[in-house]
Amino acid sequence: MTELQTASAAVLTRPRAEVWRDVCAFSDLMPERGVCVLLGGEQIAVFRTWSGELHAVSNYDPVGRAYVLSRGIVGSRGEVPTVASPLYKQAFDLRTGRCLDQPEVMLPVFPVRRRGDRVEIREVPAPERAP
Ligand code: FES
Repeated sequence: MTELQTASAAVLTRPRAEVWRDVCAFSDLMPERGVCVLLGGEQIAVFRTWSGELHAVSNYDPVGRAYVLSRGIVGSRGEVPTVASPLYKQAFDLRTGRCLDQPEVMLPVFPVRRRGDRVEIREVPAPERAP
């Protein structure tokens, strides 16, 4: 094996460093309204709840087959914070991405955090994502 091959093998096996990307200002987010951000060519719907919690899920509604979830209706079912698709109104758990009306349907969820007035999302390589 050449030196170059050895180096690239080491890169492949080393745990990936966490990469957080700045996506918007916290003050850009209105409570209970979503915004759509583009991260690595992917549309992500970011939500802020009344209590100031942040959630980030794919903007793609797999039931309605359209990029609309940032326009969804934020609410809750019991303790579960939800977004309902503007198309067919099915509700997704914002924490897990699971569809409460069709449990076999899951949205990819993204780690999101606030730093001062900025909102950051962690890049998650597609193979590591749930679902
Ligand atoms: S979100 Fe596009 S029609 Fe409602």
